[in-house]
Amino acid sequence: MTLVSVPTVHLRNGADLPLLGLGTWPLNDAEAADTVATAIDAGYRLIDTAENYHNEAGVGEGIHRSGIDRSELFLTTKFNSQWHGHDGVRQAFRTSSRLLGVDYIDLLLVHWPNPGQDRYVEAVQGIAALLEEGLVRAVGTSNFKASHLQRVIDAGVVPEVNQIQLDPRRTRRDIRDFHAQHSIVTEAWSPLGPGSNLLEEPAVTALAEQHGKSPAQIVLRWHVQQGVVAIPKSAHPDRLAQNIDIFDFDLSEQELSSISALDTGSAEITDSDVFGH
Ligand SMILES: NC(=O)c1ccc[n+]([C@@H]2O[C@H](COP(=O)([O-])OP(=O)(O)OC[C@H]3O[C@@H](n4cnc5c(N)ncnc54)[C@H](OP(=O)(O)O)[C@@H]3O)[C@@H](O)[C@H]2O)c1
Repeated sequence: MTLVSVPTVHLRNGADLPLLGLGTWPLNDAEAADTVATAIDAGYRLIDTAENYHNEAGVGEGIHRSGIDRSELFLTTKFNSQWHGHDGVRQAFRTSSRLLGVDYIDLLLVHWPNPGQDRYVEAVQGIAALLEEGLVRAVGTSNFKASHLQRVIDAGVVPEVNQIQLDPRRTRRDIRDFHAQHSIVTEAWSPLGPGSNLLEEPAVTALAEQHGKSPAQIVLRWHVQQGVVAIPKSAHPDRLAQNIDIFDFDLSEQELSSISALDTGSAEITDSDVFGH
């Protein structure tokens, strides 16, 4: 397998986040171990997991098996609503870092805001306290709306990354504009779109043919060329290699726009005022 070098985006507190990484949901521990080891061999350095995926031990095993130096990796994990609070976040950090087999986490994220519980501001402040101690290198949120982020910012912490559902049918212009105003990096989950039929859209397949790339590579290039970090998941070595091999071609402005035009405003987006864990 050829090793691909992935460009990074510089975060406010100094960490460098690769523009393309590996998603690990819904892999179990054994699958995660194999997939992570294969992905690291292929050049992946950003790995995304979560308490809720129940595979942090497998991710840790894959890292260990790869033999890579810890400092070369960018590890992301997330915690559930029961840990929202200063002490809770510390406990969540301890459990995740033990399972992953590391002594710091590059980016720790509040997985969902759970506004009904109303403790997400404390959760972000808890991550900021770990950052001060060098136990995490960047402060993150996931599935936060602009209203949630504004409350966190008003309380004195500006998250560095917000991981949201984003694909060509859900371009999320409003929240991305809010991120840009506050220097928050946008990271896309389900970057290939839920289900796989986005990859059959003529707007995508035509460009794939023109560029001699796969439909997935076109969609992932659409993300990263706009500065959006993408974390596609695949359990197949050939697709892992394919998904990271997107840094040797460009889409024109017009081509980017033709993909963005797939957003008709009708695709469902998980509502984080309602759903969470
Ligand atoms: N923060 C959150 O709330 C949240 C929510 C959901 C997900 N996530 C994170 O985001 C990551 C990615 O999201 P996701 O897994 O839902 O969606 P995704 O990565 O956009 O798509 C994954 C699906 O696409 C297939 N696939 C991957 N590469 C392909 C290729 N080159 N050609 C054709 N099909 C391909 C995979 O199948 P194979 O495995 O069979 O290749 C899998 O079925 C997750 O793994 C997780 O880490 C976060």
